[in-house]
Amino acid sequence: MKTFADIKEILIAGGGMMGKNIAFVCTSNPNYHITVYDLYPTDVEAGIRANTKQLLDGGYLKEDDLKERLSRIYFTTDIDDPALKKADLVIEAVFEDMKIKRETFAKLEARCSADCIFCTNSSVMSPSEISAEMEHRERFVGTHFWNPGHLIPLVEVVKTDATADGVAETVMEVLASVGKKPCLCKKDVPGFIANRLQHALWREAISIVEHGIADAETVDIAIKNSFGLRLPQLSALENSDMVGTQLTWNIHSYVLPHLEDSHEPSPLLKQMLDEGKLGFKSGEGFKKWSQEDIDKCNADLNAYLIRMLYGNR
Ligand SMILES: NC(=O)c1ccc[n+]([C@@H]2O[C@H](COP(=O)([O-])OP(=O)(O)OC[C@H]3O[C@@H](n4cnc5c(N)ncnc54)[C@H](O)[C@@H]3O)[C@@H](O)[C@H]2O)c1
Repeated sequence: MKTFADIKEILIAGGGMMGKNIAFVCTSNPNYHITVYDLYPTDVEAGIRANTKQLLDGGYLKEDDLKERLSRIYFTTDIDDPALKKADLVIEAVFEDMKIKRETFAKLEARCSADCIFCTNSSVMSPSEISAEMEHRERFVGTHFWNPGHLIPLVEVVKTDATADGVAETVMEVLASVGKKPCLCKKDVPGFIANRLQHALWREAISIVEHGIADAETVDIAIKNSFGLRLPQLSALENSDMVGTQLTWNIHSYVLPHLEDSHEPSPLLKQMLDEGKLGFKSGEGFKKWSQEDIDKCNADLNAYLIRMLYGNR
């Protein structure tokens, strides 16, 4: 079985938005050569240059370094390209479609080496299900990168019922070596770790609007100006320890019966869908969005993340 020291050649299957970013991230370890395989031709360099423009403009990434990193990325649309066969580790980022993912892994397993490690970047689909038809499920693991993939540090490494411990460890070492913060999700559960947490918050946020407790703008102001502000420094369970587990118990005894616990999406969301309020896509969701607002929101998010991650360097 491959260990961290054996990993040199990384294959990214699917060169879309996530695939390009993951390829760029992998080049931050100078020992790695990356092959990006996609069904269709795509300009990987142009995509990476567009995604990293703010890092370049801010001086956090130097043009020479970017050029050197890009020189270690090779692109192909040929599934029988010898570069695919050399892969020590594969990260799949094709369309979020079970059939396509299973077919992709079947083709790759037939071509890659007998000890190659396979990872899927699926956001929501179960890695156990994706790998169900593979011959060597012990070499398969979920690696859930977050968008924007070149900035957000977390990658959830999700073990299936068959993943060998050594495989998850090797993948975690590889991810750490490219500057990511890998976190082990020991069970293959819907939403893994971070989306379960995130959507528990969204469910309550939407419920507060639905029940007329506060409007959408107020909910976001409340989050951004209270616990949201301190979360990167003091997270939920550290905060629970800070206030004390006794107080946490007292608060939960009082408040939990009043929190949203629906197992269905909110009726308010359904109403919004019926009214064509699709968010950025239609220009209105919980708020109204002009194209200028949308561009600013995206640019501000990247600028904020860069300040948070690189600000003190
Ligand atoms: N977009 C996000 O925010 C996000 C975040 C985390 C994870 N993901 C996951 O990453 C994966 C890719 O998402 P994306 O947003 O990059 O999608 P995308 O549509 O931008 O890219 C998918 C790429 O896969 C290629 N492709 C499709 N079928 C293929 C095949 N059979 N063989 C080779 N290439 C094929 C497409 O040509 C396309 O370039 C999905 O599983 C998605 O759920 C997405």
